[in-house]
Amino acid sequence: MATIRLGDKAPNFTADSSLGQINLYDYLGDSWGILFSHPADFTPVCTTELGTAAQFKDEFAKRNVKMLALSVDGAASHVEWIKDINEVENTTVDFPIIADEDRKVSDLYDMIHPNADNTLTVRSVFIIAPDKTVKLMITYPASTGRNFHELLRVIDSLQLTANHKVATPANWKNGEDVVVSPAITTEDAKTMFSKGVKEIKPYLRMTPDPTA
Ligand code: BEZ
Repeated sequence: MATIRLGDKAPNFTADSSLGQINLYDYLGDSWGILFSHPADFTPVCTTELGTAAQFKDEFAKRNVKMLALSVDGAASHVEWIKDINEVENTTVDFPIIADEDRKVSDLYDMIHPNADNTLTVRSVFIIAPDKTVKLMITYPASTGRNFHELLRVIDSLQLTANHKVATPANWKNGEDVVVSPAITTEDAKTMFSKGVKEIKPYLRMTPDPTA
């Protein structure tokens, strides 16, 4: 198992899933991807998370992000569990859940943290850009369900900052003012950002979201 760091290529894999065999790179194609692990099937927090992910499917699609979940149980178990999730969360899970019974993908992505639990995965999240580089990693404990609003917010920031020389401040939400990249001089920023630049400190310059 190699350590994965931001900017690394996401390791490719082929694995069984609730929708049959899946190859990560083929599945993602030119899209962004979000890969998130679940400790086990038929567990309460995971049921709410997968239901929420399915309810947010239009939001992920709008951002050109394909979802891919993982749990260490088998594909037949996933298919049965999805029926429960759909019923309980009043939704349709139509993205694949990887069946990682042999922990191959979990090991590849370092999703098992033995001092937390020897066999089950923690709640890992990887956001993968269209060039297959890893742009974000978050690790939650099994006892804490993820905030999918936050994951969408980070994707908005990643997609904005990939195309503009800006960064996003604390608690930023789509459409709010952004920070001018520290690498740009204030003089250059004033030419670059037609909506204006406000210099709060020489190193802290704000500008309206260039895409809003
Ligand atoms: C859950 O998904 O509810 C869960 C799974 C493992 C440990 C704790 C909670």
